[in-house]
Amino acid sequence: MKRQTIQSKQHAKLRRTFARQLFILVVPFCFITVWLVASFRKIGCVNCNLPQIHPTKTVQQDLASFKDNTKEAKQLTTAQWKPMFLETNSSKFTAEHLWSQSLSTDAVILGPQIRSNHTLVTAYFRAKSKYPSTKYDEWMQNMMSLKDPLVIFTQPDLVEMMSNLRSDPSLSTIIIPCTLEDLPISKLKSDLVFEHAGKTLSLWEHQLEIDPEKNRHSSYYVFWIWLSKSWLVEQAIQRNFFQSEFFVYTDIGCFRGGKYNHKMLVSPDFWSSSIRPDRHTLLWMAHHPPNPPPTYIWTNKLKQKQFFYQSGSQAAGFREAWIEFNREFAKTLDDYVAAGVFVGEDQCILQATCLRKPQLCQYIPFSQVADNHYFGLRHVLHFPTLNKMQEPYQPWRPPQPSADFLVSSE
Ligand SMILES: *[C@@H]1O[C@H](CO)[C@@H](O)[C@H](O)[C@H]1NC(C)=O
Ligand SMILES: *[C@@H]1O[C@H](CO)[C@@H](O)[C@H](O)[C@H]1NC(C)=O
Repeated sequence: MKRQTIQSKQHAKLRRTFARQLFILVVPFCFITVWLVASFRKIGCVNCNLPQIHPTKTVQQDLASFKDNTKEAKQLTTAQWKPMFLETNSSKFTAEHLWSQSLSTDAVILGPQIRSNHTLVTAYFRAKSKYPSTKYDEWMQNMMSLKDPLVIFTQPDLVEMMSNLRSDPSLSTIIIPCTLEDLPISKLKSDLVFEHAGKTLSLWEHQLEIDPEKNRHSSYYVFWIWLSKSWLVEQAIQRNFFQSEFFVYTDIGCFRGGKYNHKMLVSPDFWSSSIRPDRHTLLWMAHHPPNPPPTYIWTNKLKQKQFFYQSGSQAAGFREAWIEFNREFAKTLDDYVAAGVFVGEDQCILQATCLRKPQLCQYIPFSQVADNHYFGLRHVLHFPTLNKMQEPYQPWRPPQPSADFLVSSE
C-alpha cells in the first residue's frame, strides 16, 4: 500500500516536472512560429495592409462595419468620380445596346465538322494580365488537348499558334479571329469622359485608375476580356458550328496541370445526371460559401470577403440560358457603370446578375468538389454523378431578391 503511494507521488512529481519543461519549451516555440507565419504572410500577400475581417465576428457585426465603409465609399464617389458627359450621352453606348452587335469575321475551321451535344468556348488575347504570357502559353497547351469540340476567339496574329496547338486531325476546332476593339465592351460609354484628379479620362482609363488592384492588372484590356465572356459564348451560339444545345465557357488558363489532358471534358453521363441544369439556368462554381452581399451594387471583394463567392472562370448551360444570362449581364453592367463604381471585376457583376435574376443561376459549392475551388466546375462536368462525399451534388440557387435589394447600392 505504502509503496504504491510513494510510487504514485513520484509519478505525480515526474509528471509535473515534465509538464513544466514542456511548457517552457512549447510556449516560446508557438510564439516564434506564429510570429514567423505572420511575417511571411505579410510578405506574400497583396492586400495585407487592408483591414481584415475577423473570422469570429458575426455576420451582423460585419454588416455594421460594412455600412461604415459604405459611407466612406459614398464620400469618395462624390468627391472624386465626376462623370462629365459630352454631347451625345446616347443609349447607343450602353452595354445593353452594344451587346446586340455580332461578330462577322470569317472562322478558321480545323478537323472534322461534327455534330455534338455540347461546344466548349474559350478566348485568348495577349493583354497585360495577372500572369506573364509565357504562363498562358504553358497552361493553354493542356486545354488545347481536350477532345471536346472547341471554339476559340483570338487575335488574328495568334490564329496560327492556336491552329498548331489543335493540329491533331481528330480534334474539331473553330478559330474566330477578332481584335480587342471588335468586342462591343470597347465602346462602352465611349461618348463620355471622366474628370479624375485634374485629368480627362475615358471610361476605361478611369476604371483602371479606380481599380483597387491596379498594379496587379496593369491594363484595362483584361477587363474587356473578362466582361465579354457571355457575349463571346453568344457569338458561338449564333453560328453554332457543331449544332450544339449546350455550351461550356472556360478560361484558357484554367487547366494548369495535365489531369484532363487528351480527355473529353464533358462526360457522356452528364446528360442523364441530376446536375444537368434546366434550359434557363447556367451552372457556376462557388469558390467560397454562397452568402449574398446586402446590396445589389457591390464590389467590395477585398474588404468583405464573406460576401464574395462567384467563380467566373467556367460556366455551363443550354443555349437559352446563355442568351438570357448575357442580356441580363449587360443590364447589370449598365447599372454598375451608372452607379460610378469599379466594373473591372467581372465576378462581382456575374454574381449581381445572378442575385437580380436568381432563376438564371445555380452554383456548385466548392465544398462538394474534389478539385481546385476556382476551376472545379471542370471536375463536375467530368464526374457529374457523385460529389466529393460520394453523394449527388446539391447545387445552390440564389434567393429571390427583395425590392429593397434591387435598388440598393454600396
Ligand atoms: C446622361 O444620361 C444619364 C442617364 O440617363 C443622366 O443621368 C445624365 O444626366 C445625362 N447627362 C447629360 C449631360 O445629359
Ligand atoms: C446527347 O444528349 C442526349 C440527351 O440530351 C443523350 O441521350 C446522348 O447520349 C448524348 N450524346 C452523347 C454523345 O453524349
